[in-house]
Amino acid sequence: MTEEGADRADGRFGPGSHLLVTGGAGFIGSCFVRDILGRRDGTQITVIDKLTYAGNRANLAPVEADAEQAGRLRFVVGDIADPAVVGPLVADAEAVVNFAAESHVDRSIHDPEAFLVTGVIGVHVLLEACRREAARAAGGERPAAPRFLQVSTDEVYGSVETGHSREGDRLEPRSPYSAAKAAGEILARSYHVTHGLDVVVTRGSNTYGPYHHPEKLIPLFITNAIDDRPLPLYGDGLQRRDWLHVADHAGAVEHVLRFGRAGEVYNVPGEAELPNRQVVERLLDLLGKPWSLVRRVEDRPGHDRRYALDGTKLRALGWRNRMSFETGLAATVDWYQANEAWWRAARSGDWDTYYERQYGARLAGSAQAARE
Ligand code: NAD
Ligand code: DAU
Repeated sequence: MTEEGADRADGRFGPGSHLLVTGGAGFIGSCFVRDILGRRDGTQITVIDKLTYAGNRANLAPVEADAEQAGRLRFVVGDIADPAVVGPLVADAEAVVNFAAESHVDRSIHDPEAFLVTGVIGVHVLLEACRREAARAAGGERPAAPRFLQVSTDEVYGSVETGHSREGDRLEPRSPYSAAKAAGEILARSYHVTHGLDVVVTRGSNTYGPYHHPEKLIPLFITNAIDDRPLPLYGDGLQRRDWLHVADHAGAVEHVLRFGRAGEVYNVPGEAELPNRQVVERLLDLLGKPWSLVRRVEDRPGHDRRYALDGTKLRALGWRNRMSFETGLAATVDWYQANEAWWRAARSGDWDTYYERQYGARLAGSAQAARE
């Protein structure tokens, strides 16, 4: 093994293992599931997903359409905060990869409760199940304790005006979403310290790519622009995000699962930091649509100005991203153009109610955004 800092045998959680993936019908979780099962290496995956508005079984359609892959997937509709559902699933698994969360900052401003229930109580329920399995392993009832990987976010560092956040930096979350994410990962790490659980944490950057729910910046602006609808840019649009392709995020999570050191946190940067305005310009160029669609709207309350991660620790573990932002963004635009049925379905149900609450008043009082 060449990875510096790795403390696990290369084979653990590799081909043939059995993983429990929570939130596996969401954006990043489904990519993780598709990519691993698509390798046809014998790995079995159980997904537990509550199928909230953001969860979509169609995200796993490529797996379910392939008999060999479908045979290695078990899909359970359930809540990670429900111990009766979670217990037996963790008992069957060698590792738990926790993607499940409410993930949209804007929704956390209006309705924070579900963020806390899933992000804190849900994590607690999963950890208690892992603790029971660790005790069974200590008693010789299973070969090893399960590893628990908590998928966290760069937002736990809060807004970073200059420089790049390192894993030991202070956590200063500033939205209900990021506060719940910080609480969840701190709880997970406390189980490592107090109970000796095998816990690892990843903190990923802003992720983009196919199957991304259209409430988020990139898919919202692509799908609105396809329909020639206004693009609501918050404030001056100079907030900066670091963009990470979903396949690289999922790949890095798997790498940390296999090679990360117990008790450690790993940043997962995209290494593509841009102001929102530039992202929008690139999208419009790719779509052949005019800047006149862009509206300057009232800013998000508490809007973090910038996130930026230092990726030294993950690089030392042997991980390299594979997708450039230029290639990834162009492929993402192509995907939305080719998969209109998928995103139109995601923009149905309570979408219009959500959209009106989030953007109705903002757009009514908006002006075309100046191009700088
Ligand atoms: P998503 O909203 O697309 O998917 C979340 C999934 O979790 C959905 O399928 C949903 O049904 C499921 N879920 C929600 N509550 C649940 C519960 N109580 N029990 C079981 N399932 C539940 O989110 P995403 O963008 O794929 O993010 C996945 C994880 O990665 C989250 O933990 C998020 O905080 C983290 N993250 C996301 C990004 C990003 O840019 N998208 C970046 C860094 C970290
Ligand atoms: O940084 C990681 C985080 O990235 C994840 O933890 C979150 O789950 C994920 O949702 C994402 O959070 P952001 O708030 O950064 O993503 P969002 O797509 O909502 O917004 C990206 C930027 O675009 C942000 O500066 C707000 C701005 N924005 C967003 C929307 C939806 C707009 O200007 N207009 C919009 O309509």
